[in-house]
Amino acid sequence: ALRGVVAMDGPSGTGKTTVARTLASRLGAGYLDTGAMYRLVTLAVLRAGIDPTDAAAVAGHAGTVELDVGTDPARPAALLAGAELAAEIRTEEVNRAVSPVSAVPEVRELLVARQREIIERVLAATGGIVVEGRDIGTVVAPDAGLKIYLTASAEVRAERRGAQDAAAGRASAPDDTRASVERRDRLDSTRAASPLRPAEDAVPVDTSELNIDQVIIALSELACRRG
Ligand code: C5P
Repeated sequence: ALRGVVAMDGPSGTGKTTVARTLASRLGAGYLDTGAMYRLVTLAVLRAGIDPTDAAAVAGHAGTVELDVGTDPARPAALLAGAELAAEIRTEEVNRAVSPVSAVPEVRELLVARQREIIERVLAATGGIVVEGRDIGTVVAPDAGLKIYLTASAEVRAERRGAQDAAAGRASAPDDTRASVERRDRLDSTRAASPLRPAEDAVPVDTSELNIDQVIIALSELACRRG
């Protein structure tokens, strides 16, 4: 079983979620999807009728959001005030609004504190956790025993996002998907507060030419060697 934290960062469409969940299951570890937390705050902001680009209004509302996420890799729950919203947080409307909301320093401060609490709790209970996001290796868990930075070409990432949408029954045009993925990564990488970037000690893994099984095998070996 995994001991400690595996930090899994990278842009969208790299297979991060599938890889992180599968790895956590294989290693008998917990799983934390920090992106789901930023998506829940974004959905709450939209439902409150707040403009997601109004940083002051978003900062003011963030503290009132009652969000919760599960840490079982087999059932990654995402809740607002007790209501399960795992599908609702993955719409194109949330995709468009999540980067400006995540760029608000007060939102990050709140969520990073929650993430550290969850990590501590899961480590105490099971001894290991795989945490995925954009700033896990750099900010949330800088002492993680293993840091992975997943990448993939823009074509492959757009293709994977399109396949995910299709599998979930969401209609999407390939050009729009690619533009949406690239726009979000540009915003996430250029924001002032904890931009998306690899930690200095992260192991880069390019998944463009690899299938999920190949990525999992490579990462399980790394985790066992470090763990
Ligand atoms: O991983 P996912 O695509 O669900 O993340 C959604 C968005 O949440 C990202 O595009 C980014 O704006 C934000 N995010 C973040 N920091 C994290 C995880 C996600 O800013 N650790």
